[in-house]
Amino acid sequence: MEQPTHVPPPTELPETGRRKFLRWAVHGLSAVLAAVVGVPAVVYLIDPRNRPSPQRGFKPAGHVHELTVNIPKEVVIRETSRDAWTLYPDNVVGRIWLVRRPGPGNQVDAFTTTCPHLGCSINYSGTRFLCPCHGGQFQLNGTRINPHDNPASRDMDSLTVRLVPIPGNTDAEIWIQFEKFKTNQSAKEVLT
Ligand code: FES
Repeated sequence: MEQPTHVPPPTELPETGRRKFLRWAVHGLSAVLAAVVGVPAVVYLIDPRNRPSPQRGFKPAGHVHELTVNIPKEVVIRETSRDAWTLYPDNVVGRIWLVRRPGPGNQVDAFTTTCPHLGCSINYSGTRFLCPCHGGQFQLNGTRINPHDNPASRDMDSLTVRLVPIPGNTDAEIWIQFEKFKTNQSAKEVLT
């Protein structure tokens, strides 16, 4: 009668070595997964556009100390938007003029760059705001120059500004309630 052939068991790692390997593998995988999920989350939260705004609807527009008194600065307003699964982190939603007022403390005015006449983009000409399309001119406080000859039937559209003090600093963050308005009418009316 034929004797059964003895098949040697496959070579294995020693039990303790295999466990150690599996433990390290699991820990390593967990660390990689945490980094994959955690790093973008931290970056997302650090970005001021994604931090909770001091008031709903307000968007960051820089710092007061970046402005020179009575010298308008054009600022691009961006936001993070989502379309189904796609994230657009730097969507440009509009442009504004910021004007720091003289005097004690921080005082900042904001205007949309859109001309209230027919919607061209208003420039700063050195002493005043000037619309290149039909010659609309505005003071640094947004009021029309020569209202009777001005093609615009209302002043520049001002925006609500909120200054958020930075602790231990005289600077402040500038937050803007960015809105768009209907053009070619004397009443300021939000575009919905
Ligand atoms: Fe600005 Fe006409 S669009 S003056």
